Amino acid sequence: MSGDQACMQPAAAGSEEDLFPIRVRGLKNAFGENVIHEHLDLDVRKGEILGVVGGSGTGKSVLMRSIIGLQIPEEGTIEVLGDEITDARDDDDIDIRCRWGILFQGGALFSTLTVAENVEVPLREFYPEIGDELRHEIARYKVLLSGLPAEATSKYPSELSGGMKKRAGLARALALDPELLFLDEPTAGLDPIGAAAFDQLIRSLQQTLGLTVFLITHDLDTLYEICDRVAVIADKRVIAVGTISELLATDHPWIKSYFNGPRGRAALAANERHEAAGRPATNKEKAPLGTAAEQA
Ligand SMILES: Nc1ncnc2c1ncn2[C@@H]1O[C@H](COP(=O)(O)OP(=O)(O)OP(=O)(O)O)[C@@H](O)[C@H]1O
Ligand SMILES: [Mg+2]
Repeated sequence: MSGDQACMQPAAAGSEEDLFPIRVRGLKNAFGENVIHEHLDLDVRKGEILGVVGGSGTGKSVLMRSIIGLQIPEEGTIEVLGDEITDARDDDDIDIRCRWGILFQGGALFSTLTVAENVEVPLREFYPEIGDELRHEIARYKVLLSGLPAEATSKYPSELSGGMKKRAGLARALALDPELLFLDEPTAGLDPIGAAAFDQLIRSLQQTLGLTVFLITHDLDTLYEICDRVAVIADKRVIAVGTISELLATDHPWIKSYFNGPRGRAALAANERHEAAGRPATNKEKAPLGTAAEQA
């Protein structure tokens, strides 16, 4: 892996990529005859937490993999921070890859490395010139930032609870001070209290660090609590993007059954109770409903 290139500076404020750091147009992905996406458009706004939902197997993870260049689409274009991701991938892409952080579905920590060593992996890759002491210090800082105690730095993944593993994965995703954070099912497998704490951690990091977050989830509480907008994948494309109340106003059967089913109603009731108790409102009502592909 090449690590001798410095990361690009962020785009100038006000440019297209500054408004929409992720823009997907006409995406088609297929595995043989199995077409996963077709005519899929999506814009992610700078500074938002975009929830991505859809039935199991509708292609949420494949969409994320396409956006980060791990899945080459059959058709369409994907721009991330102004860079065309669908171009052939090579070492030049190192510039863009150090501007995002990823928490994969399932975590994917290296089991033979400690938490700190896991966080150091991207630092070693992208900034090999950083000395050992500074690298250790950065890793330690990211571990603490992710809400883990300092002792966790020297632990191996097998010694961590599920929630701690997620936080360690998050620390690694934050290693390079990314502008974009990709999270694939971050609260899956956590108990409700652990999931709520993780949600609040994501919201607080997003606000403090000014992150744009692409968050795949099945967790309705997460959608209500921290997502500014939600994109719904069905019928091989993004069928709607908007706040939850805007989505509820659409008449797509999957959206209706998802948000109006027993779990959806319970999450809504919990959210209303929180708001009645004076919890600061999330941003979810602020943004207007967009078409899947908003024009700037
Ligand atoms: N490498 C691959 N080769 C062949 N088919 C694949 C591959 N990766 C994904 N698929 C198929 O693509 C479809 C979408 O998969 P994907 O993992 O994106 O679903 P998902 O929406 O993330 O589901 P879940 O909610 O269960 O995580 C599935 O039918 C899956 O079997
Ligand atoms: Mg998935």
